[in-house]
Amino acid sequence: MAASLAGIKPLLNWLAYCCIALGLVTSVQGAQEWDNFRPKLHYSVQLNWLNDPNGLVFVNGEYHMYYQYHPGSSVPGPKSWAHTISRDFVTWSDLPTALEPDELGDIWSGSSIVDFTNSSGFQTNVDVYPIVAVFTHAGQSQQQSIAYSNDWGRTFTKFAQNPVIPNPGKQDFRDPKVIWYNDESWILVLAAEISIVNNILKQINLYSVGDRVEFYISQDLKNWSLSSDFGADPDQGLKGVWECPDIFPLEFDGETVWVLLVSNGGGGPNGGSNTQYFVGTFDGTTFSSPQIDPLFMDSGVDNYASISFFNEPRGRRVIIGWMTNLMYANDIPTGDWRGQMTMAREVRLAKNSGNALRLRSLVVDEIVEKLVDPNQEISVGITGIAPDTTMYLTDSVPWNNSLMHLNLFIDVGGLCQGCSLSICFLNSKEQEICSGYDHGRERPLFLDRERSGRTDFNPSFSRRLSAIREIPLDGANNILQFEAFLDLVAIEVFFDGGMTPMTSLFYPEEPYTFVEIRHHALGNINSRLSIASGSVFQGMKSMYEV
Ligand SMILES: *[C@@H]1O[C@H](CO)[C@@H](O)[C@H](O)[C@H]1NC(C)=O
Ligand SMILES: *[C@@H]1O[C@H](CO)[C@@H](O)[C@H](O)[C@H]1NC(C)=O
Ligand SMILES: *[C@@H]1O[C@H](CO)[C@@H](O)[C@H](O)[C@H]1NC(C)=O
Repeated sequence: MAASLAGIKPLLNWLAYCCIALGLVTSVQGAQEWDNFRPKLHYSVQLNWLNDPNGLVFVNGEYHMYYQYHPGSSVPGPKSWAHTISRDFVTWSDLPTALEPDELGDIWSGSSIVDFTNSSGFQTNVDVYPIVAVFTHAGQSQQQSIAYSNDWGRTFTKFAQNPVIPNPGKQDFRDPKVIWYNDESWILVLAAEISIVNNILKQINLYSVGDRVEFYISQDLKNWSLSSDFGADPDQGLKGVWECPDIFPLEFDGETVWVLLVSNGGGGPNGGSNTQYFVGTFDGTTFSSPQIDPLFMDSGVDNYASISFFNEPRGRRVIIGWMTNLMYANDIPTGDWRGQMTMAREVRLAKNSGNALRLRSLVVDEIVEKLVDPNQEISVGITGIAPDTTMYLTDSVPWNNSLMHLNLFIDVGGLCQGCSLSICFLNSKEQEICSGYDHGRERPLFLDRERSGRTDFNPSFSRRLSAIREIPLDGANNILQFEAFLDLVAIEVFFDGGMTPMTSLFYPEEPYTFVEIRHHALGNINSRLSIASGSVFQGMKSMYEV
């Protein structure tokens, strides 16, 4: 939850009223377009405003996703926890709002856990494990509170002695994520800024140490003790207001490696908000990482506030993020609803060609199995693409919904210096989104939405994103793997087996139905580019039609 929005709440409330009035006028013309902007591979809110995913938890056959929700309008305002559930990450069923504001404040981001051992004492029925939600109460200050459910997450009772972690005099103090550590303790990590006084000094550049995360420990989810902090001393990572941390172990080569995710409100490599991560160790008290520079979980722009599920039944680490950027989140041209999530992703560790551990992300199997349609497949043979020519993968896709999955292996080893490969999705209005590889650049991977359609709603939206390439240790430099899931208004690209994901929204005036692969060779007749074996191009089903 962005702190900067809190200070202007009265203004936003006023704007909400004003815009409802305007909405009556524009919705007549805009209805069709707004409906067209609803994604079909991504969860989106039916009406009003959605932001961060909260309280992701699996229990009793159901994945629960709560999320930041403003019931009053499609711009930010007082937040509740909305609720939706899924059994497969594909179809979601919305349930009534789970947590609403009270005298301690609005209900901001947080997590939830299943209390299998009744450590909290909240369990009332031996056959039903309690879900305990841990969240930020945002009132006069930000404080951490809990609420419990004894009906599998449908309804919650707030703990009578909230807050469980009162504000210690900090301006930013929020987004608690709780994990069960070593079968013995609850560990909570939250984002905390320096004290209010130091924050003023920082803003006039008298004090350079910025954001940090803090770790707390508890046996009962009610009584928490501060055990350590990370990020401020020494100064680590990118600082643009830290939010929504998460910490989890991942196995790599028989070793347990800990990963700390920290969303960061601004200053990302492609502008705006981003989710950075640190690879390190955790002993129940202290997280350590030698990393000073940030690494990014996603090299696109539209993946923020990602957190992982508690109790994922297959032992996977599955994450979901809010699919937008704080630069323009409030201006997305979707009318009376605003906000969607990324697809669920599994994250793992892999070594890059420099022998360093990196996160790699892939769309969960369930989505691939249920939505990718092998009956709608266009074969992509082994083909050379001559310099300065375009290969038309389709003149127009034969399926009618414009949802596509590509998994291409492309030999880029013979591209001339400064030459590039672009994979472009287009409509008949010559609007397009292109992604690919610029040979010889320091940040060779790109995703370009400058001509993608409507970009007028915010000056920060139109842009060409670029990223460093992370080649897997066992990968071949010359073969670029390009996997993409194309929704009506969003694309998730996974380069090199998920080593570099790039996620982006776009708003074309009609769906993209043409696909092209372009070889830009700058007149160099010796430049070589070819599609290698194993490449596929397939249609996808809508999540509303399975
Ligand atoms: C959970 O613990 C509380 C407090 O100790 C106790 O009153 C309650 O009976 C326990 N619930 C179950 C189902 O055992
Ligand atoms: C809270 O936990 C601490 C450390 O475990 C313990 O010393 C203290 O007695 C507990 N307080 C309450 C009220 O339970
Ligand atoms: C797309 O095709 C499917 C299957 O043939 C059909 O059920 C559906 O109605 C079509 N949708 C549109 C928008 O034409």
